[in-house]
Amino acid sequence: MSAIGSSKAPILAAPPRPQARTSLRQSLRAMRENALAAHDEENFKADIIVQRILWRRMFIINEPNAIRHVLLDNAANYTKSEVGRRLLEPGLGRGLLTSEGETWRRHRRIMAPSFDPRSVAGYAPIMTAVTEELLAQWDALSEPHETDVAAAMMHATLHIISRAMFSSDSDEIVDTVESGVNTYQNTVRPGLLDLLHVPLWLTRIIAPQPTHGIFDEFDKKVDRLLTERGCKPDAEPKDLLARLIAARDSEGGGAMTAQEVRDQVVTIFMAGHETTSQALSWTWYLLAQHPAVERKLHDELAAVLGGRTPRYDDIGNLRYARMVIEESMRLYPPAHTIGRQPVAADEVLGHRIPAGAEVLIMPWLLHRKPSLWENPECFEPERFEAERAAARPRFAYIPFGAGPRICIGAAFALTEAVLILATIAQRYRLRLKPGHPVEPQGLITLRPRYGMQMILEHRQVRSRQVRRMG
Ligand code: HEM
Repeated sequence: MSAIGSSKAPILAAPPRPQARTSLRQSLRAMRENALAAHDEENFKADIIVQRILWRRMFIINEPNAIRHVLLDNAANYTKSEVGRRLLEPGLGRGLLTSEGETWRRHRRIMAPSFDPRSVAGYAPIMTAVTEELLAQWDALSEPHETDVAAAMMHATLHIISRAMFSSDSDEIVDTVESGVNTYQNTVRPGLLDLLHVPLWLTRIIAPQPTHGIFDEFDKKVDRLLTERGCKPDAEPKDLLARLIAARDSEGGGAMTAQEVRDQVVTIFMAGHETTSQALSWTWYLLAQHPAVERKLHDELAAVLGGRTPRYDDIGNLRYARMVIEESMRLYPPAHTIGRQPVAADEVLGHRIPAGAEVLIMPWLLHRKPSLWENPECFEPERFEAERAAARPRFAYIPFGAGPRICIGAAFALTEAVLILATIAQRYRLRLKPGHPVEPQGLITLRPRYGMQMILEHRQVRSRQVRRMG
């Protein structure tokens, strides 16, 4: 795709353009390297894209009403896609992200109360405490200091989900998971056999994925915690793990088994930190390119917080901060692709979709579709002012998906992203290191391929210097 901006707008980082003519082998390699690089300008404009990989057809649906049909109105006819399950199940087991049918419904009912606004409000002090710890580390560095902000955000969100889930037992777990997630994303990529739905047992023989063992150490620690908690259920803190162990299905059916709790824990751990950290990394990148937006954000922070640490109650007043995050997830949606598979044949936008076909919905394409977004390549948080947002089709913006399988952690993630942004932006400005390459890379999530190397500038020191100079 081209990176066109208006005359004043900076050109934003984009994936490499697709090659004009590629063999099946080349396009598969490109897809494994960076799933976003397969799309040219025409794909952003299209309502539906039909592709063929040997005998299998793939439909990319890129029109709000049709997306509503698949994700909501006719959701009962669509399961998660086989390819997605193959990518996630070896690590996550059968947690909420990968389960289907009655098992999924029961787990969603059991887990919903742990993610409602009251519960999220309870996690807010953890979110700001972890951010303050990060700032204390930054404060101790000599200026100007350069750091990989993508790694710092990952570390912070990992600590937050870990403390929310395991309370005091968390730090030990963080150490084991950090490298595991990296290895997993870099190892588990879709191959031809997955895309063709060749049976899993055969795929594993012909092209085994070296995922075995990546999470062994993590599993052992979680198992130990579960056993300890199972032995003394009354003495436990009220963290997410305690809630999962104690949770009962409101429609009968009892508690989850140990294996079910393990799979949910791993799922929430993985789904619950990486995406939010990507959203924040891209937000810092975008703010660094747009000083006027950054100034407006600083003004809001000064007016609402005046230098103090934000609390959950402040979120309603930090409207611009939230718009900045929303616009960042429009341009760089952490979950760039959502996959489905119809159980029975369906018709979408005049196309017959056979049972079992690969149906993809790509926020990456949808959020930059020119007929839905004016100057789609420009970073403009004001698009998310209530009035302008209400004028758009509801299904034009879906960073958290939609319908019954909408992200259960959306409120958690937005609260976390706004609190982290507000806490850090009051104290630091982050500048992209000159010459640092930035490339959006579509793996399981949308990552900055080479990290996000940035220079930390202390805001208070700067304003003191300005005053002294004056
Ligand atoms: C900016 C951050 C996040 C983004 C962009 C995001 C995005 C998504 C999307 C698009 C889906 C739907 C996938 C589909 O329909 O196939 C999803 C599902 C899910 N997310 Fe998130 N997510 C984020 C943060 C979180 C957090 C913080 C948690 C947990 C603490 C979480 C847990 C989950 C779970 C468990 C599911 C599966 C829900 C179900 O199928 O019932 N996510 N997420």
